[in-house]
Amino acid sequence: MGYKTGVLDPAPRGPAAQVCDFHVRAPIDDQAAALELAARSDALTLEWELIPAPLLSAVAEKKLIFPGADVLEIIQDRLVQKQFLAKEGFPQARFKPAASAAELSSVVSEIGYPAILKRRRAGYDGKGQRVLSAEQDLPAALELASAPCVLEEKIEFEREISVVLARDQKGDVEFFPIAHNEHQNGILRLSSAPAPISETRAKEARDLASAAARALGHVGVMAVEMFVAKGGSLLINEIAPRVHNSGHYTLGACAVSQFEQHLRAGLGLPLAETRLLTPVVMANLLGDLWAGGAPNWEPLLRDPRARLYLYGKDAPEQGRKMGHFLLLGSEAESLRAEADQILRRMEGPLGR
Ligand SMILES: Nc1ncnc2c1ncn2[C@@H]1O[C@H](COP(=O)(O)OP(=O)(O)OP(=O)(O)O)[C@@H](O)[C@H]1O
Ligand SMILES: [Mg+2]
Repeated sequence: MGYKTGVLDPAPRGPAAQVCDFHVRAPIDDQAAALELAARSDALTLEWELIPAPLLSAVAEKKLIFPGADVLEIIQDRLVQKQFLAKEGFPQARFKPAASAAELSSVVSEIGYPAILKRRRAGYDGKGQRVLSAEQDLPAALELASAPCVLEEKIEFEREISVVLARDQKGDVEFFPIAHNEHQNGILRLSSAPAPISETRAKEARDLASAAARALGHVGVMAVEMFVAKGGSLLINEIAPRVHNSGHYTLGACAVSQFEQHLRAGLGLPLAETRLLTPVVMANLLGDLWAGGAPNWEPLLRDPRARLYLYGKDAPEQGRKMGHFLLLGSEAESLRAEADQILRRMEGPLGR
């Protein structure tokens, strides 16, 4: 797009630092460093929602930054996010705050089993969460509940979807095609588009997502994760006020990527057309694949429909997202099965 870019990141050679024009190396919550980044920039954005809100407000006094501190403040805390959505009338799983371990059993009796306990702050990829299926699961959940949590009803869903949209400064919204998401151990494994849902359901999902973006006053790309419950009703699971893993498919399969659209939304350029150019599946490559040395790339690289994206992260830890691949083809559901096969061959002992 012609912009010069800089990044604030504590790592010596983090993924973004490898491709940016300059790198301010400091902890993410270092306000002086953030102000240095602001001094060297015309506009700022973020892709991590736990940056302290006061730091974002300090930056906002100097330069354009999107999304704003007020949006982040609501999203950062699961309970505040859920209470905000409830106040605005959005459908969600039933939830209750669980402020301490001592409170947990009375909160469980209100929500019932099965339920999911989630830390209010700093959870991602299923970290800081625990499923409670029956009373015998309570003792093991006490440690998680030693920090403030939310307990929510476990939804028996038909499928998970996400709406990735962009909202600009004027309040105009463009949607990407809805993605169908499949998680394993709380981590997104496969995401595909178009999602196998009716146009009526898709419109309902888009309406919910844009109403949420408007209620927040969000600017930029935002992802709204939803459950399609048994029977078809939609529930909002959570909101990510940034480019999202379930929007990575747009890099290779849409007329504009979520990354470009994010900048267009924040920088006052007209939002681009988001048309899906081809059915697509995105598969995450987790650090687990490196457990026995380099992964078996063979099944992936031999497939001419597959595109590999590696992020340049140094340590391939278990559950860490190291990259993803896209599989482009003519029909999303059969592509899903094929992407799953490729992953299994990369994971399995026969793949090595
Ligand atoms: N109430 C629920 N009922 C059923 N399944 C749930 C519920 N909450 C979470 N899950 C499952 O766990 C996954 C991860 O949960 P959630 O999105 O809350 O976690 P997270 O750790 O913030 O993940 P991320 O930020 O990586 O999306 C969901 O996508 C879903 O598969
Ligand atoms: Mg999630």
